[in-house]
Formats: sequence, structure tokens, C-alpha cells
Amino acid sequence: MPNIKFYDHAQIPMEMHKVKIVQKLNLLPARQRLVKMEEAGYNTFMLHNGDIFMDMLTDSGVNAMSDNMQAAMLHADDAYAGSETFYRMRDKLEEIMGIKYLLPAHQGRACEHIIAQHFVKPGSTVIMNYHFTTSKAHVTRLGGKVEELVKDEGLVTKSTLPFKGNIDLEKVKACIEKEGAENIAYMRLEAGTNLIGGQPISYENMKEATDLAKQYGILTVLDASLLQDNLYFIKIREESMKDKSIREITRMIADLFDIVYFSARKFGFGRGGGILVRDEAMFHELEDYVTMFEGFLTYGGMSVKEMEALIIGFEETMDMDVISQAPQFIKYCVDELDKYGVPMVTPGGGLGAHINAREFVDHIPSEQYPSGALVAALYMCGGIRGMERGTLSEERNPDGTEHIASVEMVRLAFPRRVFTLSQTEYVIDRVKWLYDHRHLIGGLRFVHEPKTLRFFTGKLEPVSDWPQKLMEAYIAEFGEEIE
Ligand code: F0G
Repeated sequence: MPNIKFYDHAQIPMEMHKVKIVQKLNLLPARQRLVKMEEAGYNTFMLHNGDIFMDMLTDSGVNAMSDNMQAAMLHADDAYAGSETFYRMRDKLEEIMGIKYLLPAHQGRACEHIIAQHFVKPGSTVIMNYHFTTSKAHVTRLGGKVEELVKDEGLVTKSTLPFKGNIDLEKVKACIEKEGAENIAYMRLEAGTNLIGGQPISYENMKEATDLAKQYGILTVLDASLLQDNLYFIKIREESMKDKSIREITRMIADLFDIVYFSARKFGFGRGGGILVRDEAMFHELEDYVTMFEGFLTYGGMSVKEMEALIIGFEETMDMDVISQAPQFIKYCVDELDKYGVPMVTPGGGLGAHINAREFVDHIPSEQYPSGALVAALYMCGGIRGMERGTLSEERNPDGTEHIASVEMVRLAFPRRVFTLSQTEYVIDRVKWLYDHRHLIGGLRFVHEPKTLRFFTGKLEPVSDWPQKLMEAYIAEFGEEIE
């Protein structure tokens, strides 16, 4: 990445690309946003994208493709079986990761389904640094359990630690001794760690953890969905790796694992997924699941156009200019808000900027969904859609009481190569205003509560008329926002 120096600024994160195709955004007038939020049942998943100005819900499947990725789509080879596109994709991944066998799948959770279906038995344990919702659900559905063994310091929201995703080796040893190595289905390391704020894991920690697993004969699995951000952090934060190229670091990481899988909705800037398997016999054992659940072995539920674009996307992931941008924008956003006093998860990680909602709206009890209320308020006060990551996303305890989340967060994702710095400044500005008016935000309660994954489709209502009062204050400050 070029070391651009500034005359009048300490540092400004830089877009290392130019915009060639655009999509017009729509900023609805303030009062209309209140109506849309009411119609969506105070659930940002239920908003229509056309009513959103800054969609920061996720980075999944919404990263910008490059000109070369789009161009590659034209020479995709359509075939049910034996598509040349598949062989090109397999060869590119082998070149980068050094793993020969590729099982294609339609997205990340499909890979998790296949891996869990094959290796997890009732009563078995899967060791993880931290879970992701879908990775855990596939294990528990099959009667297995997940042990999350991230170091305690990884869960401290405000911190300066460079690798909060690191797994605790002492906890791993104790877990293996307690459960018995033969009952551990596999060790899954997530690089970087989504649910604790996109926090990276160091190469050294991955090496030590996988060495330990190998001593006990335990299968090692890497979830590489967020690897591009993690590669960037290893390069800039891990002293012993700073002279290595991204390609060398990627290969060193892949060499540690028996299986590497990824959601290509994140890794590769497209849509799809894949499982890389080192062992030929294991590859053949897993093939059946692809043909049963995904599609034929040379597309696995993906469009060949997406696959062709991904081949270029994987190559672009090896470019420090490309993978630096999102983490640098996230750092800028986190640092600016942190300086202002907004409680943020620090240091900034990959994927997005994370607000500590439990502190931001500490007057809202967990049973009234502080993160859910904050994310709704942010849409009303700016047309910005974040994602609730707190008690609302949990399932109730068997006795019907709320399961209070250990962290209440709002995630503002930075899809890669999508937003500009001025849009980022706008988001920072609106979050600051909201922080200064946080006492106006109130709680939410369910009016329609689905039994499973209630956060996706549930409908809520405010516990008082706080949204009206908040919007009055907003309009007094910014006007009606009508052209
Ligand atoms: N693993 C990680 C680390 C993820 O972040 C995700 C998805 C998956 C697996 C599942 O992949 O969505 O392609 O099935 N994360 C998305 C998000 C949904 O918004 O963070 P998928």
C-alpha cells in the first residue's frame, strides 16, 4: 500500500480505486423514515432497501466487484457438468492456498452444513475461538456442542490488544482432557472473528492451536470468510510477519489446516462458497453432500458467472491495496467516534465498526432491547441501517425469560469498496448527534415474536412515544430534509 503523506492531516484513509458504475441512493425525508420504521415493526431487517440511504447491515454479498471481475463474467463456461470455470476456480484456489480439492457450495453456511453433517455426532464437541450464528446452529442441530475458547481479554470491548480473536491454549488443553480427543469432532478457527467485532487472530496463535490439535489427532478447520481483513491485520500488527507478502501469509495460514472453507459473499467479493480439502479420501467422502444438497460437483449451487468473477476476486484479495481499504475506513470511523466519547469496540477490527449499545443507551434495560432500539433510532436519524447484535438476536430461555446477551452491539458494516469517506463522515456525524441525544431513545417490545430467529421477521413497538420525540429533536436540528 502506498505510503501517502498529507500536508494538513495526520492520516486519511484512501480509496485505491475509482468509481466506474454507480447506483443512486435515496435519502427519504426525516418524517417518512419514521413511517417506514413503524411499518417495518422497528426491525431493520424488514426495511426495503430503496428506503435506506447507507446500508451498513452487512458486508455479505454486497461488496463491489472490480471491472476485471465483471469482465470475467462474460467468459464463464455454462455447463451442468465439467464447466471450465470450475477448473479455473479450483486451480486458482490451489495456487493461493496450496490445497488441491475443492467442493463448491452456494454460500458459507452450506459449507458448514456439509462439514458438520459429516463430522458431528450426538454428544461430540466442536472447539472454536468464537462461534458464528450459522456455524454453531449446524453443530447443535446435530446434537453436538460448541466450546468457545477465545481468550477472556477478547471479550473486553474497549481494548488496545491487536489480536482479540486469539484462542486460549490452556482452555483448549483443558477442554480436550475433559471431553477426550476422540469426542472432539474438529477445531474450527474463525479468522477474523465476526461476533466479537471482526477481531483478528494472529498467525502465531493459529499455529500453536493447530499444533496442539494435531498432537491429539484432532481435525483442524479454518473459516476463511473474513480472511482478507485478517491478512491485513497480520501484515500490519504481527511483528514477525511484516516482511512477508499477503500471498506468503495466506499460504502459511492455509498450511496449518486440514480443511479451509469460506463464504464467497465475503471472501472473493462475490457470492458463493467452497470447502478446500487436503486429503483425497476425505474429499470423496464429502462429495455426496454436494450432489445431494448443493448441485453438481462443478458448480455446487453457484452461478458460473459468479465463479468466474470470484477467480479474479481471490487474486485481488492478495493485493494489499485492495484489502486495506475496509479496515482503514473502519479504524477511521471507530477512532473518530471513540475520540468523541461514543462507546465503541476497540481497536477497530474488520467487517464493520461496532458500537457498544449497552453503554450507549445504558438507561434501556436489556429486556427492552437496547441494541434493537439504537439501530432503529439510527435509521430514523440518518437513513443508516446497521445490524442489531444483542439480546434481540438471542432465543428465549426454556422458561420463557429473556436470555440476556453477553454483549449488546450495533454493527455498522463496511462492505468492501462501496462507501466513500464523505459517506463515512456523514455516518460519524449522525452517530455523534444521536449520542448527544441518547436520553431520547427508549426501549422496544415485541408485538409479533417468531419462535426461531425472531430478529429476522419479528415486529416490535416502542414502549412509549419516544420515536416521535426523537424525530422532533432531529427535525429541530436538521430540518425536514425535504428537497
Ligand atoms: N462464517 C462467518 C465468519 C460469517 O461471517 C458468515 C456470514 C458465515 C460463516 C456464513 O456465511 O452467510 O455465506 O452463509 N456472515 C454474514 C454476516 C451473514 O452478516 O456477518 P453465509
